[in-house]
Amino acid sequence: MPKEPVQLTRATRLINSGPVVLVTAWSGGQANVMAASWAMPVSSEPPLVAVAISPKRFTHALIKKSAEFVLNIPNALLAKQVKLCGSTSGDRVDKFKETGLTQLPASKVRPPLIKECVGHLECALIQAIDVGDHTVFVGQVLAAWVETGTFEGVWLVEREDAKLLHHLGGSSYCIPKGRFDV
Ligand SMILES: Cc1cc2nc3c(=O)[nH]c(=O)nc-3n(C[C@H](O)[C@H](O)[C@H](O)COP(=O)(O)O)c2cc1C
Repeated sequence: MPKEPVQLTRATRLINSGPVVLVTAWSGGQANVMAASWAMPVSSEPPLVAVAISPKRFTHALIKKSAEFVLNIPNALLAKQVKLCGSTSGDRVDKFKETGLTQLPASKVRPPLIKECVGHLECALIQAIDVGDHTVFVGQVLAAWVETGTFEGVWLVEREDAKLLHHLGGSSYCIPKGRFDV
């Protein structure tokens, strides 16, 4: 099959489609939530995750101040709320109020869990690396939670409530079709 070049400004989209997360951050009594698709695991022992956040985001300032964040994992039923969290800024809008998403206290960090999400990673910031136009925040996972019945070592994506939301880019999303073992 022939290959065709991809514009470099679009190149990251070739591996963009991990599950979208809702990053919660907190500072000085104020909590905020933003959508992020540039998140990934980077170590299993210790468990470390990374998320790339632009310095333009309000969330960036909050994580810098508090050195904590939570990656909340929404299912596809929350696509509209994800879009809102990814298109308005917490320095102007209370996104919890706007979306109706509910804050729950986390067990180890101050940023809240989002009740409506099916998974949560509570993270302590261990490194912030400025790369290009984003900062890669590396967090150590201090506690992790899933909604009962949705995860057995792997997400049970055949269940409607475990169909995670994957961001292809722009306004396009997809959901997992099914699970198979090889
Ligand atoms: C699906 C989706 C994924 C996004 N992924 C990222 C990301 O990985 N990193 C980032 O800096 N911004 C990302 N954004 C943009 C931010 O979510 C957006 O700028 C948001 O309004 C920032 O909110 P804040 O200013 O309250 O922190 C994404 C937006 C959407 C809709």
